[in-house]
Amino acid sequence: MASTDDKGRAPCVAILSAVLDMEYLAVAFREAHPGIDLRLGEELGALDQIEAVVCWFPPHGLLARMPKLRLVQSLAAGIEHIPADAELPRQVPLCRIVDTGMAAGMKAYVCWAVVQQHRGMRAYVASSAARRWEEQPIVSPRHHRVGIAGLGTLGMACAEALAAIGYPVRGWSRSAKEALPAGVEGFHGAAQLDEFLSGCDTLVCLLPLTAETHGFLDAALFAKLPRGAHLINVGRGDHLVEADLQPALDAGQLSAATLDAFSQEPLPPDHPFWGDPRILVTPHIATRTDSLVIARQTLDNLASLRQGRRPANQVDLARGY
Ligand code: NAP
Ligand code: GLV
Repeated sequence: MASTDDKGRAPCVAILSAVLDMEYLAVAFREAHPGIDLRLGEELGALDQIEAVVCWFPPHGLLARMPKLRLVQSLAAGIEHIPADAELPRQVPLCRIVDTGMAAGMKAYVCWAVVQQHRGMRAYVASSAARRWEEQPIVSPRHHRVGIAGLGTLGMACAEALAAIGYPVRGWSRSAKEALPAGVEGFHGAAQLDEFLSGCDTLVCLLPLTAETHGFLDAALFAKLPRGAHLINVGRGDHLVEADLQPALDAGQLSAATLDAFSQEPLPPDHPFWGDPRILVTPHIATRTDSLVIARQTLDNLASLRQGRRPANQVDLARGY
């Protein structure tokens, strides 16, 4: 962890977000490194002292004014909110969080989302409230195929967890995967997308948001799924063409959608997804990373860079993830 540099200076880290109050993260940084020179909110001080920034939707143009910046750290797994700043200093390493706790949270959410729809759990909430002893049809998980678009850190963890509770799982990624967990079939690239989609009774989107994946979940894609498929989007809101979702539900091409990410967050109060019984909205909570993990990974990455070593989980900006 970054303690002091060769001149005895404590790490100088700024926490930046144009959309969230970041005080909760400041507490974790102070716990991880009590002597830290931490800059937050309006209190950024001299920008030429800042060595690392931790970001969630950082204000545009600010990072370009930090001449000593060594590290840009996303506080999340996704990073698209950072290069959205056209003035991002692209020569500075950009890293993301990879964490077993984050993966555990995502596994729990995705398994819950698959099971709640496949087993008709929402009907039990209603029958329980009405004191009715009423079974829903039980279809064995063996007969419900789950596809995961994005077989990376989180997608692979979810694939393994779903296979372990009996679902036949398939995953789709950009590159071919060699050693897949038992019960998980791999597909890759544009050439295998249609074949992948044709076997997804539930489709889970766990792609990063890039120029290639923006608008991935649209009417043309829904038409390639088995009729009545369930869509789960735990990627980003802009993966989904929102205007295409309710027509696909109306037509019966999709039966339900569980959505955790939206083009506009918070989802506006008059948005048509609210109150649609076929759409379950959750407020971007599929998983969260412990703030101490974010602080430690940031300080470790800064220490590596101060010592001329590569930081962990650096993003390939050309690839976009
Ligand atoms: P990751 O490890 O980078 O995995 C990304 C996966 O997507 C990889 O398998 C990659 O293929 C695949 N991929 C990327 N572009 C593709 C394309 N054009 N075609 C096909 N496959 C493509 O990312 P991660 O850590 O699993 O996180 C995934 C995303 O989840 C994040 O970017 C974030 O948006 C979202 N997320 C949401 C929440 C939430 O609470 N809702 C929480 C955390 C993360 P290769 O394996 O071939 O590279
Ligand atoms: C959350 O959305 C993340 O990308 O970690």
